[in-house]
Amino acid sequence: MNTLVIYFSFDGNTKFIAEKIAETLNADMIELNTSKKYPREGFGKYFWGGKSVIFGEKPELTNTDIDLSRYKTIIMGTPVWAGSYTPPIKSFISQYKIQGKRIALFASHGGGGAEKCFAKLKKALPGNEFIGEADYLEPKKNPEDSSAQAVRWAASLTV
Ligand SMILES: Cc1cc2nc3c(=O)[nH]c(=O)nc-3n(C[C@H](O)[C@H](O)[C@H](O)COP(=O)(O)O)c2cc1C
Repeated sequence: MNTLVIYFSFDGNTKFIAEKIAETLNADMIELNTSKKYPREGFGKYFWGGKSVIFGEKPELTNTDIDLSRYKTIIMGTPVWAGSYTPPIKSFISQYKIQGKRIALFASHGGGGAEKCFAKLKKALPGNEFIGEADYLEPKKNPEDSSAQAVRWAASLTV
């Protein structure tokens, strides 16, 4: 059975890491997208993003019919928002029955909150086996090191 890398990325950092992981493992990759767009700049970006985490929003995804039965291992990536995972990941988890999988978690962040984010994700995904977690500090600001870190981590996973 295959491995799936599934992620949400607002500014491309998580996407950058997801691509390295998928390449290393020759895995399928899906980017989650929302029908409604978040504000892209300035105060609005942080306000709407933070608010949607705090209120537990589950925005509608444009992705349809993701067939998880094909995958034994799911590698899930998110930016850290307000010390948690992002609303599109919440939508994905609530929309699909994710059980009996091997799951690895990764997150991009600006300096804090990844541990809390992973703890919340694990709590939201009962009935699965967690095989690894890794966090990346603003990957696009430091592409070479982040890329090497992602490749090493992916190669270390027993998928
Ligand atoms: C709404 C919002 C909330 C954020 N909250 C946090 C946070 O709590 N901790 C942190 O370290 N970074 C936080 N960040 C920064 C992002 O996690 C960081 O820039 C990440 O690399 C972005 O990933 P992306 O480019 O895949 O969207 C936040 C960013 C946004 C837009």
